[in-house]
This record gives sequence, structure tokens and C-alpha cells, in this order.
Amino acid sequence: MRRIGIFGSSGFAREVADIVTALGHKPLFVVRDRIELERWSWPDDVVLESELQSLDSTEFTIGVGDNRVRERIATRYANEFHFCNLIHPSATFGVRQREAIDAQRGIIVCSGVRFTNGIEVGDFSIFNLNATVGHDCTIEAFVNVSPGASISGNVHLARRAWIGTGATVIQGKTDRKLRIGEDATIGAGAVVTRDCVAAAVYVGVPARKLRDGFVTMGS
Ligand SMILES: CC(C)(COP(=O)(O)OP(=O)(O)OC[C@H]1O[C@@H](n2cnc3c(N)ncnc32)[C@H](O)[C@@H]1OP(=O)(O)O)[C@@H](O)C(=O)NCCC(=O)NCCS
Repeated sequence: MRRIGIFGSSGFAREVADIVTALGHKPLFVVRDRIELERWSWPDDVVLESELQSLDSTEFTIGVGDNRVRERIATRYANEFHFCNLIHPSATFGVRQREAIDAQRGIIVCSGVRFTNGIEVGDFSIFNLNATVGHDCTIEAFVNVSPGASISGNVHLARRAWIGTGATVIQGKTDRKLRIGEDATIGAGAVVTRDCVAAAVYVGVPARKLRDGFVTMGS
């Protein structure tokens, strides 16, 4: 049994612990400070971030949905600790796709996720419950695909893009992928039919720009 340290203490971090447990490993939550530690009421083990150096033989994952916060944690610790991928046993993969993901690090794939094939996936991206990703997509690092979202074939999700729950991104073209820009946010239930620019929020069917800027993800 391996011990996997999970940065974070939110609901998503606990869902990540479910994956760790489903894989037959033991979760160890890593909390930021003593206030979080004193509030801790979950049965799994917990440790303070400042005490990490004293641990031996632990692998880590980042159970934080917010892409920018996850990137900050990864940047701080990437050279110091080993970040493993966490792939729920119920996730399914097309030909050679699992191998492509195994070559990366820090990726979280929740239960029910389906990847077909020919998909590039960047480090520290999250694929939440029942999301699907079609052929020949390019998914950069620190992306978050929320529960039930569908990414069709030939789509490019740039760094830190966030696709909301149940959103659909229609297919791009073989010679020109449909592109969701860096730090773009796609609202829950949106249907994206065209490129979305960087650092802007899109909602609706078909998706239209709601405003420029970022969204900070709760929990
Ligand atoms: C798109 C989103 C980021 C916008 O958040 P926001 O910037 O705080 O926007 P607000 O809540 O202030 O809403 C602004 C307007 O957009 C509308 N709106 C918000 N989200 C919408 C959505 N998903 N679809 C359609 N309209 C939406 C609101 O009704 C509001 O309209 P109004 O001005 O006519 O009243 C957010 O609503 C959303 O969908 N987040 C994704 C949540 C999610 O998938 N979480 C996954 C957890 S694992």
C-alpha cells in the first residue's frame, strides 16, 4: 500500500481521497496551517505543510480545483516531491491513451471519465466525474474539466482553462482545432461552438462572452 499526500482539505480533496482509496492506497491530507488542522474532522491522516520535509516515501497529488492555486502549489514543490497521476479504476481509455497519460504527472482522472485516443494531456490537469474527451484533443497543463463536461474531438484547451459542469465543446477541425484560451472559463451547461479568447468567461447555448477576467473556484 502506497501513502499518497493530498494537498488541500476541501470537498474536492476528499473526493481525491476516494480515488486514492479505490486504488488501494492510503490518503494523507496536507493542510496549510494550524487553524485548518484544528478544524480537521475527517477520519484519514492529516499533516501540516510545514512538516512535509520530515516525511519519507510519500507521493503527492494536489486536490485543489482552482487552476491557479494548483499551479502555485505545483511550482513551489515540483522539484522537491514526486507528484503521481491518480486514475480512478473505472476511467476508460482508447488505444495507447492510458500510456500517454502515464508519461505525465499530477493528473487526476475521476470515476467514469472516458478518453478516446490521440489526446495530449498536460501535467496537473483534472478530469472530474464522468467527463469525456474525444480524439486528437490537446489539453495543456493545469486545466480543469468539471463533472459531466464533454470535450469533442480536435479541441485545444489552453493552460488553466476551466470547463464547467455539463458544458459541451463541439468538435474542431483536423487542420484547425477549436481553441479555448488560457485561463478562459466556460460556465456550467454552456455549449461552445467557436474559439473562446483567453481570460474571459463564457456562458449559454451557444456560448457567448459574459465578461473578461478570471473566476476563482470555491471549495
Ligand atoms: C459562469 C460562471 C463562472 C459565472 O460566474 P460569475 O462571474 O460569478 O457570474 P454571476 O453568478 O455573477 O452571473 C452573472 C450572470 O450570468 C448568468 N450565469 C451565470 N452562470 C451561468 C451559466 N452557467 N449559464 C448561463 N448563465 C449563467 C447569471 O444568471 C447572471 O445573469 P444576470 O446578470 O442576467 O442575472 C458560473 O456561474 C459557473 O457556471 N461556474 C461553473 C460552476 C461549475 O461548473 N463548477 C464545477 C464544480 S466541480
